[in-house]
Amino acid sequence: MKPLFFPSLALVLLSACSSQKGTQNTTRDFYTKDVSKNVFTHIQKLSREEEDIALLGKSFFSKPWVEAPAATTARDGLGPLFSANSCKHCHPNNGAGIALGEKGDAHRSLVMRLSLFSKKNINNDLVLKNGFIPEPNYGSQLSFNGTGDVKYEGSVALSYMKVSGKFADEEPYVLHSPNYKVKNLQYGSLHEDANVAPHIALALVGLGAIDSIDARDILAYEDVNDRDGDGISGKANWVYNPETNKTELGRYTWKAAAATVKQQVANAAHNDMGLSNPLYEGDNCTEFQSECLKAPKSRGDVFDLPMKRVDAIALYLKSLKIPLQRESENFAQGREVFHELGCVKCHVESYKSEKYGVFNPYSDFLLHDMGESLSDGHTMFQAQESEFRTPPLWGMGLYKRVSGELNLLHDGRAKSISEAILWHGGEAEAQKVAYIELPKRKRETLIEFLKGI
Ligand code: HEC
Ligand code: HEC
Repeated sequence: MKPLFFPSLALVLLSACSSQKGTQNTTRDFYTKDVSKNVFTHIQKLSREEEDIALLGKSFFSKPWVEAPAATTARDGLGPLFSANSCKHCHPNNGAGIALGEKGDAHRSLVMRLSLFSKKNINNDLVLKNGFIPEPNYGSQLSFNGTGDVKYEGSVALSYMKVSGKFADEEPYVLHSPNYKVKNLQYGSLHEDANVAPHIALALVGLGAIDSIDARDILAYEDVNDRDGDGISGKANWVYNPETNKTELGRYTWKAAAATVKQQVANAAHNDMGLSNPLYEGDNCTEFQSECLKAPKSRGDVFDLPMKRVDAIALYLKSLKIPLQRESENFAQGREVFHELGCVKCHVESYKSEKYGVFNPYSDFLLHDMGESLSDGHTMFQAQESEFRTPPLWGMGLYKRVSGELNLLHDGRAKSISEAILWHGGEAEAQKVAYIELPKRKRETLIEFLKGI
């Protein structure tokens, strides 16, 4: 027999939990009320010493790098192969990237990840440490630029096919289905088993708060074999972290392939800008790229980006303020729809950590199978072709103002929040169908809520 007091205790616990939800701890200096295009660039209050380091990090993040050797050694070492010459170029105002560039080419903030889908060598050291097998001629990413005599690797033509559909109330909608064509390849053709996976630059919001979540609070949502039978599993990505030489829980990037902000900073420096660093050593050249291997090195340190500077950039990014929620007239109603539809099963509303108190990223930071039409053919550690990390949704309503364009989902194909929801499939098929079946009024309140979080 159940003890009589149990239900009331459960109620007390429940109400304690729900009063946490949606309320942000605004007492500390973690939030900004700014709604301008600079909203993602404000730094929290730090100690004098930390502030100096964060500002140094900001300068390395923002200023353009030059090729080696240069008169000023602090910022040389770009390339020889690279995609952009500053972090800021792909993360404008710390916001999300842009999909379509000039003349029908993919924008450089839409990175093309290269891999081999053949699983033949699955146990080798490279796969364990890298998460996938890079394409042999070009490496793990198609570089759109080269320094000096080093030829860039190639470019990509991007076009969209319009796909129309209807909500249950007959209102029409249009989706944009992307088509990529790799062209101008400078180092021969791609391997016959090569896969090209477009990933757009992520907005740099709340990275410190995400870091502060206890891994157990994320793992508590894992349900790999869908034991509760709701069609949603949720799987952690376990990834190799070169800093600790250990396998750790992945929290960052579209496939949750980076364990820490620092790891991603170092990875971006190496792959996106060609900056060698203690975590990703050497230049970003393959053995078939002789000009790249022979190119002049920076004169300063052994590394283009020594550890102190990697740390400074990571501290800067982890210290950025989170935008405060903007509660408009139908915000509360929209939030109810978000719960009713079950979006919260993946877009988990709140976490609590010692440093940040309660905060609302709207993500479980786990991988979900999103169906065939979103598959990018790319595996990264545990993440399979159609599996992606639930992206946090905070600040999403400000993306357009910050970057100048709205390009949602891993390849930026969705030009509106509604389009992003309509592409959901796989584990989120039921939630998408429920969204299609909503009356117009409720669809609008849901979007209004999402624009305010
Ligand atoms: C060529 C474009 C490009 C450049 C340059 C670039 N990034 Fe990125 N960044 C991306 C893309 C694309 C992703 C998503 C990667 C993925 O999921 O595969 C990303 C993701 C990130 C993330 C993870 C964010 C999250 O929420 O998970 C961080 C942190 C980051 N970048 C920092 C940096 C830093 C620091 C630099 C400069 C050293 C930099 N980036 C330079 C394109 C770029
Ligand atoms: C099964 C887990 C799951 C459910 C349920 C789910 N989502 Fe998602 N959501 C994801 C994943 C994973 C992505 C990233 C997919 C991609 O990039 O291809 C995503 C992406 C998004 C995006 C785009 C975010 C960005 O930064 O690009 C929005 C908006 C969104 N979801 C809203 C919703 C809403 C609203 C609901 C409920 C109707 C919902 N989601 C239900 C997992 C889920």
